[in-house]
Amino acid sequence: MAQTWTPNSWRQKPIQQVPDYPDLAVLDSVEARLAKYPPLVFAGEARRLKSALANVAEGRGFLLQGGDCAESFAEHGADTIRDFFRAFLQMAVVLTFGAQQPVVKVGRIAGQFAKPRSSGAEKQGDVTLPSYRGDIINGIEFTEEARVPNPERQVMAYRQSAATLNLLRAFAMGGYANLENVHQWMLGFVKDSPQAERYRKLADRISETMDFMKAIGITAENHPSLRETDFFTSHEALLLGYEQALTRVDSTSGDWYATSGHMIWIGDRTRQPDHAHIEYCRGIKNPLGLKCGPSLTADGLLELIDILNPANEAGRLTLICRFGHDKVAEHLPRLIRAVEREGKKVVWSCDPMHGNTITLNNYKTRPFERILSEVESFFQIHRAEGSHPGGIHIEMTGNDVTECTGGARALSGDDLADRYHTHCDPRLNADQALELAFLLAERMKGGRDEKKMVVNG
Ligand code: TRP
Ligand code: MN
Repeated sequence: MAQTWTPNSWRQKPIQQVPDYPDLAVLDSVEARLAKYPPLVFAGEARRLKSALANVAEGRGFLLQGGDCAESFAEHGADTIRDFFRAFLQMAVVLTFGAQQPVVKVGRIAGQFAKPRSSGAEKQGDVTLPSYRGDIINGIEFTEEARVPNPERQVMAYRQSAATLNLLRAFAMGGYANLENVHQWMLGFVKDSPQAERYRKLADRISETMDFMKAIGITAENHPSLRETDFFTSHEALLLGYEQALTRVDSTSGDWYATSGHMIWIGDRTRQPDHAHIEYCRGIKNPLGLKCGPSLTADGLLELIDILNPANEAGRLTLICRFGHDKVAEHLPRLIRAVEREGKKVVWSCDPMHGNTITLNNYKTRPFERILSEVESFFQIHRAEGSHPGGIHIEMTGNDVTECTGGARALSGDDLADRYHTHCDPRLNADQALELAFLLAERMKGGRDEKKMVVNG
C-alpha cells in the first residue's frame, strides 16, 4: 500500500545530490519565505499541457522540449530570452508545417537552475572544492567562497524565473509569435547560414497560405490561434526544498501542483523508486518527465510507471530516453516492448544530447552527427516497434555559440574555443537546432505517409 503523500514526505526518504548547506536555519527561513511567494504557473495551465501531451501519447502530435542545460544568473537578459524564443519558434513552425502535426512547445527555461553532478568535488591542480551545482545552489567560479551553497540563491532563481516567464508569456500571447511574423524570426546570424534558404522557402509558403486565408476572411485578428501559441516551461525537479516551497493546492480540484514550472522531470541519477525524488513527484499532478538511461531495466521502468502514473493517465508521463547514438539500438527496443506489452500510456521522447558527450581539446562537446544519428535510430526503432516517436528533448540556445561540433557549418574541435559559453553541457546553436528541426520534420512526415499507405493499401 502506498503511504500517505504530503509535500514534505520526501524528507523521510534517502536522497541523492543534496548540497551541503553550511547553515540549515538560514535554509529553513529561505524556504519559509518562498512558500509565501506567488506561484509561477497555475494548475489549469499544467492541466492544459497534460491534455496536449495526452494527444501526443495517443499518436497525434509531437513534443518539442528544449533550452539551456543550465540557466545562469550572469546571462539573464531580454536578448538571450528573445533569441532563444525565436530559434524555438522557428523549429516549431518547421515541425508543424513540415510534418503537419500539432507541436507541443515546452522550454527548458524559467527554472532550469539545479544540476546533478557525478562527483561532489572538483579538483583543479592541487585544489579541491565542492562541485558547481547550478546557480540556484552555488557559484561557478572556482573559488572557495563561490562554491559554498547559499540559500539566498533560491530567491534569486525564483525571481529570475518569474521575470523570464513574464517575457515568454508576452512573446507567446502578445503578438511576437504571430504567424504573420514568420519571416522575422530569422536570426541575424542564421540569415547567412545554409539553413536560411530552406527556412525562407518554408516561410514563403506559410505567408502565401496566410494571404489566401485572409482573402476568405480568416485573419490573425479574428483567429487568435494564428497569432498566439501555448508555450510551457519545464526543469529538472532536483532541489526538492525549493520545489516543496512552491508546491500548492489547486483550489478548484483540491490537488497538489508544483507551481515552479508546468512540467518537471526526474533525472537519470535520482530515479531510485524508494528515494526522495520519486516520492515528491508521485504526489503532484503536473505532467512529469522521466529520464531513461542505459542502466534502467524494463522491470525497473514498469515499477516507476506504476508509482508515478498508477491511473495510467495519458499525458502524465513522458519518457525522455538518453542512451547515446551507439547504445540506443540496444536499450530502446526492450523498454518499448515492456511498456507496450503492459499497455502503459506514455510519450516517448528522445534526448540525443546526454548520451553523446565527449571531451575534445579539453572541452566537453557533442558531435552533431552523433546527435542526428541517435535521432534517426529513435525514429527507425519506433517505426519497427509500431510505437509513436513522440518528441525530442534538446539543449539549445538562440545564440551563435560554438559548443557542439559539426552541422552545416562544420564546426571543428579548433572552433570550440571561439564562443564556448555554456555553464554546463554543450548546446546546439540556433543553426544546428534549425537543421535538426528540418530532419525531424522529414522523419515525422515519412512516418505519416507510411501510415497512409498502410491504410490505403
Ligand atoms: N497556435 C498555433 C500553434 O501554436 C499556430 C501558431 C501560432 C504557431 N504561432 C506559431 C506555430 C508559432 C508555430 C510557431 O501551433
Ligand atoms: Mn545537460
